[in-house]
Amino acid sequence: MRRLLVTGGAGFIGCNFVHHWLRGHTGDRLLVLDALTYAGNRMSLAPLESQPGFRFVHGNICDGTLVTSLLREERIDTIVHFAAETHVDRSISGPAAFIETNVVGTHTLLESARKVWLDERVVDHHRFHHVSTDEVYGSLGPQDPPFRETTPYAPNSPYSASKAASDHLVRAYHHTYGLQVTTSNCSNNYGPYHFPEKLIPLIIVNILHGRPLPIYGDGRNVRDWLHVSDHCRAIELILQDGKVGEVYNIGGRAEVENLQLVRSLCEIAERVFESREELGGRYPQCPQHAAADLIRFVTDRPGHDRRYAIDCARIEQELGFSQRVTLLEGLRDTFAWYVDNESWWRSL
Ligand SMILES: NC(=O)c1ccc[n+]([C@@H]2O[C@H](COP(=O)([O-])OP(=O)(O)OC[C@H]3O[C@@H](n4cnc5c(N)ncnc54)[C@H](O)[C@@H]3O)[C@@H](O)[C@H]2O)c1
Repeated sequence: MRRLLVTGGAGFIGCNFVHHWLRGHTGDRLLVLDALTYAGNRMSLAPLESQPGFRFVHGNICDGTLVTSLLREERIDTIVHFAAETHVDRSISGPAAFIETNVVGTHTLLESARKVWLDERVVDHHRFHHVSTDEVYGSLGPQDPPFRETTPYAPNSPYSASKAASDHLVRAYHHTYGLQVTTSNCSNNYGPYHFPEKLIPLIIVNILHGRPLPIYGDGRNVRDWLHVSDHCRAIELILQDGKVGEVYNIGGRAEVENLQLVRSLCEIAERVFESREELGGRYPQCPQHAAADLIRFVTDRPGHDRRYAIDCARIEQELGFSQRVTLLEGLRDTFAWYVDNESWWRSL
């Protein structure tokens, strides 16, 4: 039986992970620690609130006293660290919050873990899993090989720089103090409970309302996409069989240009509206057969990375990871989820 502290568990990937973990590990104790920023939504965890073993704590990872007392009182043996400021555009207009949560917050967690796990020895075994991003590796040209775990860091935005700093701190706490850590660097996620400021949910909600579909620059920026359920399974594998001190890249092997991705969502919208007649009444502004006409190219993001691609051979070979959800299936399911869970995104 494990006793987990999941930071940022009311956010997009965090809440998917909490649902995933508690489905497969019913005897475990799981605490979510989340500050409920604009990106955190307690509604995403509502079905779990009455489940024994689950506890929600509204609090900040920068609050060392709170974190230390939770680790001690709850005898936490596993931290899965998702909490972060995550939107690149917000990091450009206001980087300070990114330094505070992503760097200072991660350091606060590491210090509390060092105190309770290494100094006080409150539990026999422990693990600190740090969830990071492929953006720490910088940007690729069209012919460059994908990022490997050995690719030198070259973060380009305040967001990716703050995540890179947190990755280095996690590594240092392993090498200096012997904290039992693992880190994963993952490509772009999509799926249920994704806040509609990010590309895929934004495009879906805008299609439904017949609003413009903004695309940065020429739309040729390439991202690798992974369904969030596959990311959650990968983290589970790392927690179970990952080597302490190791870094694992996680990717979808699904590189696509932003413009193509948006066009695919427009085609999916057309098919969904054809097969579900009631949707025409619910979303009268949706152009249905002409969603692609809503595409608008807007001024590019400063310093916009051109291409990300992930070589995830290590986690495939060492831990047996493989993606279960193809990009097309995943986009269809995600579109359907937003149509069927309107109350979730309307409440934001
Ligand atoms: N979304 C992606 O595509 C992606 C890809 C790779 C890695 N990641 C990483 O995965 C993690 C989760 O990403 P996400 O997309 O779910 O993020 P998100 O923005 O949806 O959620 C972040 C969560 O952290 C909480 N939070 C923020 N500051 C906090 C603080 N100081 N104390 C406690 N809680 C706080 C928020 O309330 C929110 O619930 C992040 O570390 C991110 O860097 C994300």
